[in-house]
Amino acid sequence: MFSGPFSESIIHRAQERNITSISLHNIRDYTTDRHHVCDDTPYGGGGGMTMKPEPIFRAVETVLTRPAGWSLAPADAYINLPAWESQTPVALPLDTPIILLSPQGRRLDQTMVAELSKHPRLALICGRYEGIDERVHSQLITDEISIGDYVLSGGELAAMVIVDAVTRLLPGALGYALGAHQDSHSPGLGGLLEGPQYTRPPMFRGEEPPAVLLSGHHAQVGQWRHEQALLRTLLRRPDLLHQYPLTQSDRAFLQKHGWEFSLQKSG
Ligand SMILES: C[S@@+](CC[C@H](N)C(=O)[O-])C[C@H]1O[C@@H](n2cnc3c(N)ncnc32)[C@H](O)[C@@H]1O
Repeated sequence: MFSGPFSESIIHRAQERNITSISLHNIRDYTTDRHHVCDDTPYGGGGGMTMKPEPIFRAVETVLTRPAGWSLAPADAYINLPAWESQTPVALPLDTPIILLSPQGRRLDQTMVAELSKHPRLALICGRYEGIDERVHSQLITDEISIGDYVLSGGELAAMVIVDAVTRLLPGALGYALGAHQDSHSPGLGGLLEGPQYTRPPMFRGEEPPAVLLSGHHAQVGQWRHEQALLRTLLRRPDLLHQYPLTQSDRAFLQKHGWEFSLQKSG
């Protein structure tokens, strides 16, 4: 599942340039039975299967007590697993959040992504089946993150979303230094949405870019972009305007474009 997204574009280049490293670990490799069983029927009955705690604890405790980038050699999988005692907790590094991807977690946003990008290492655990033994929640994970209020079949896609969003923020990951800083929801835009963009050709199907963008006047281009960011946010996500430090002229601009009406509409 991971090979496509992790071997393309920005994530691929970031790994090649040692800006980040990503190690994948198959929880099945940390089982002890010959069928590598990771799930079992839930106590109390009910539909679906529940992920067992031991393989998850064993995988996380084995991986996080080794240097970043370590992975089980293919020849070791299922055979020469490192020694591990299921009933004895293992001290894990305090600077590494152990995050379970879950529809019940805190909902991911750009502020959380920025916070995650500051950690030297992240451990992301992908769930499967109908649930995960509660002792993983109570004893192992430090955070639970959701990528939205809907249910996926597994945590892998959600983990890839986090890896992608975090990698963009790592210094040197993007080709242009200020890129991620000026994206929608980012600090450079004060959490607003980015405004419209144009490139060549100058005329396409009867529509031209605004003249100011071709004027070469940097201050005016900057002012136009700022106003367009306000306008786009007003039209699409007026809730985001509440967290932005609006100036007097921002307010006047927004009011001219029906700001009060939108505020009433969005409650
Ligand atoms: C079918 S879901 C289990 C949902 C669980 N029965 C519940 O109601 O919370 C299987 C796995 O997909 C992942 N997952 C599903 N939706 C997700 C979301 N919105 N964000 C992050 N991970 C999600 C989680 O890792 C979860 O353990």
